[in-house]
Amino acid sequence: MSKLIINGGHALNGSVRVHGAKNSALPILSAAILSDRETVIHNCPRLTDVDAAIRILEYLGCRVMREGDSVCVDPRTLTGCEIPRELMQEMRSSVIFLGAIFARCSRAVLSMPGGCELGPRPIDMHLDALRSLGAVIVEEEDNITCSAGHRHGGRIELKFPSVGATENAMLAATGCSEKVVISNAAREPEIWDLQNYLRSLGYNVSGGGSPEITVDGRLPEKRGEHTVIPDRIVASTFMAAAAAAGGDVLLRNVIPAHFSPVTNAFRELGCDIEEGGDYVRIRRTGRLRAIGPVITQPYPGFPTDAQPVLMAAALRAGGRTVFEERIFEDRYRYVPELRRMGADISVEGHVAVVQGVEKLCGAEVASTDLRGGAALVVAGLSAEGTVMVTQLQHLDRGYEGLESALRALGADIIRVDTAAGGEAKWPTEDTKEKDAARCLPS
Ligand code: UD1
Repeated sequence: MSKLIINGGHALNGSVRVHGAKNSALPILSAAILSDRETVIHNCPRLTDVDAAIRILEYLGCRVMREGDSVCVDPRTLTGCEIPRELMQEMRSSVIFLGAIFARCSRAVLSMPGGCELGPRPIDMHLDALRSLGAVIVEEEDNITCSAGHRHGGRIELKFPSVGATENAMLAATGCSEKVVISNAAREPEIWDLQNYLRSLGYNVSGGGSPEITVDGRLPEKRGEHTVIPDRIVASTFMAAAAAAGGDVLLRNVIPAHFSPVTNAFRELGCDIEEGGDYVRIRRTGRLRAIGPVITQPYPGFPTDAQPVLMAAALRAGGRTVFEERIFEDRYRYVPELRRMGADISVEGHVAVVQGVEKLCGAEVASTDLRGGAALVVAGLSAEGTVMVTQLQHLDRGYEGLESALRALGADIIRVDTAAGGEAKWPTEDTKEKDAARCLPS
């Protein structure tokens, strides 16, 4: 079992390259089975969720080769259309294989996906989207069997711009010979990236990034090669880390427009921000100040995935910051862990109120989910005393080498593998008392 040990209070300085987006790489890897030849995906981050997607591809019979951050998939050897329960359970994005397998094989058999516990995460819209294209879906206990029936084109109306349902609709639509229009589609940059990958495979997909996406036959050209966009949530996490710890950090390999609501929030908090074509520089010297309500919304609104790390950065800001979560019902599971560090946060339903404290203290805390785990790390960077973060399997799903990147920026953070005989250097009782005392309001 691994733990992160953070001794907070070190400013971050230097530059960091932001890796490829998990939420783009995963649907793109499932879309790889729609290629009629070998396809290469660059800037594919090394994450356990990506490993899980590769295991699914291999289970289906594809040949997959990884070299550095490039993944080469040959789907011509695909034999199966079923994903066993244990592979489905490894992550939420396994459900995105549904549309791709259905398009390629006219039949798909899988079970409910796993993933972060953020409250109910139904897949009704995914299934309705496929039904709109003529799929016949049988749900039995945990199993979902989807067969072609009479496959046809037409209009898919999503009742909410769900990212996952939009992706499944786009993928399923590539298997139709008639035009498909998806309305009320999600507009996240990852949708636009999936569209570009599908176009590189020769599918005529347009409108990605707008509320209406059209999938209509084939294009004359295909390249079969694609570079995944940078991860806007990882970028947001580094901004939060710089804001919490102080210092001067340059984020390289980013698309600033993809996370401008997050950048604006950090600017409002009191950080100096400079943006260029593919970089963002964030500087924080003085104390942060509370900001107006942060309301999570579908893109281009403030992203729900950046809410936990922004909250972690706002814990020591002067004043009161209100957060309203409108995407997931149970997104504040990490809050009790932040309270163990001395944070003053009250939660009522979808609303969390942060009253800025002078200092945060050392504590042992457990990640509850991917972005909640990142919030604990961000808070730890600005704590006085030692923060130990456990349950790192959540973090490893979405961050490649987070601690080494932070260490290179000047953070005092190490990963200890206790199972491999590494010793978790938790402070003595005496130090813990001192940490707790430092945490009391002055
Ligand atoms: C994706 C991202 C996740 C991000 C989220 C919002 C991936 C792998 N995951 O998740 O990191 O936090 O977008 O940007 O890309 N809903 C339904 N029925 C459905 C589908 C969704 O009711 O069939 C609801 C969900 O319960 C939730 C809301 O719609 O309340 C948003 O979900 P959705 O946009 O689908 O998020 P995910 O695709 O799960």
